[in-house]
Amino acid sequence: QPGVPISIPVTSNCTGIKKIPDDDHPFIAPGPDDQRGPCPGLNTLANHGYLPRNGIVTFAQIVEAVGEGFNMEYDLAAALAAFAMLGRGNAYLDLVSIGGESPLIPPLPGFIDGHHAPYGISKHGRFEGDMSITRQDAAIGDNVNFQEDLYDELLLYTGKYGDDSPVTGNSSIVTLKVMQEFKYSRFLEDQVKNPVLEYHPGRFATSYGEAAFVLEFFANGTDGKLSVPAMGSFFRYQTFPQNFYRRPSPADIGVIGWTSHRIMIAHPLRPGANAPNGTYVPDIVPRSCDHVYYDLAVKNLPATLMTTTGLFRKNIDFLLNKTATPFDCPVIPPIGAP
Ligand code: HEM
Ligand code: MG
Repeated sequence: QPGVPISIPVTSNCTGIKKIPDDDHPFIAPGPDDQRGPCPGLNTLANHGYLPRNGIVTFAQIVEAVGEGFNMEYDLAAALAAFAMLGRGNAYLDLVSIGGESPLIPPLPGFIDGHHAPYGISKHGRFEGDMSITRQDAAIGDNVNFQEDLYDELLLYTGKYGDDSPVTGNSSIVTLKVMQEFKYSRFLEDQVKNPVLEYHPGRFATSYGEAAFVLEFFANGTDGKLSVPAMGSFFRYQTFPQNFYRRPSPADIGVIGWTSHRIMIAHPLRPGANAPNGTYVPDIVPRSCDHVYYDLAVKNLPATLMTTTGLFRKNIDFLLNKTATPFDCPVIPPIGAP
């Protein structure tokens, strides 16, 4: 089968506030063969046809969909899409599953031993990791689907620390304070519950990043506020809430990094992992251009990507470049296990 060059996103220069979804993108529940996974953002976009409804997507389709639906800035979107494609997709055919393995995505040429199968982003490791918001750690539960008990904790913290809603009068607005307290409590419980917890710099950053995504992308663009019903719409039903407007300006790595930092710094933690005796051991952070970039895209991606040639290699080089861009780092070739 001949390869396909990585698709180039068509970027819109209309990046303001906008009602989402439009009439062309109604919610349709996924069928049994449609792939859905650990990302409520991508799942929602697929349920509305901003991404192919079967959940099998190209680089450009991801970048365009997150831009249109949520106003995620181009370089950030491209880095995430490229990382997903390199880590869990088929970069030779420009296809990745937003859920699990699919017959629609064949194995990579030259990697028939299955070491680098296009498993989809649901597969634990590389991208999917521990300390998620509404998904359990892979070692102790379901790391792919929405978990009621974890979401209940988030609701509990919203009740305790959220702002009052002008509509209902009770504390049902999800604020920075809610995320600060929720993330810290998740860490304390998870550190005890998961004996093989891994929270290294890449996952540490994406974990707080996802908490920032909730505040920055799920909030309504009209007033910047996130209500409990709107949050539930995204997490539980994976559909846009009534009267949702995407944020009025694109959120780039700077916006997300700053919100992540503000969530974390209320209860400062360090990247690390559990030792066999159950204690949390902080990492000694390696010196590199950017330790998040290094951990995610250099240590986590397989070194075997660099043994490819021809169009396959061209695609990989293109995607490696995209992962480095928002970090302002030169591309460092991956050194990870197959
Ligand atoms: C989680 C991929 C965009 C919101 C995840 C995870 C993956 C992923 C693999 C699982 C990580 C884990 O928690 O273990 C991607 C890719 C994107 C993207 C490739 C392409 C740009 C978005 C957008 C939003 C979003 C635009 C918000 C509108 C979230 C949230 C979580 C998450 C909130 C955490 C879910 C939870 O823990 O309950 N994403 N994502 N993502 N993503 Fe995305
Ligand atoms: Mg996870």
